[in-house]
Amino acid sequence: MYVCICNAVTEKDIHHAAANGARRVRDLRTLGVTVDCGKCACAAKCCLDQAVASAPSAARRPSSTPARLLEAYA
Ligand code: FES
Repeated sequence: MYVCICNAVTEKDIHHAAANGARRVRDLRTLGVTVDCGKCACAAKCCLDQAVASAPSAARRPSSTPARLLEAYA
């Protein structure tokens, strides 16, 4: 399902970002989340929280290198 219509970001994209260290909606901006109209912020946060909660414990650790996200989508 699409979370961000403006930039065609899906739940799957957000789960992938969470697996690569995204922990805040701000971390999803590399995908385009909230970059345009911003109406996706609440849905993106909910999806991200669910993704983090369902991730394996090693993936729940906060990312110390936000660049990992950029590398994941490069
Ligand atoms: S729906 Fe995400 S920026 Fe518009």
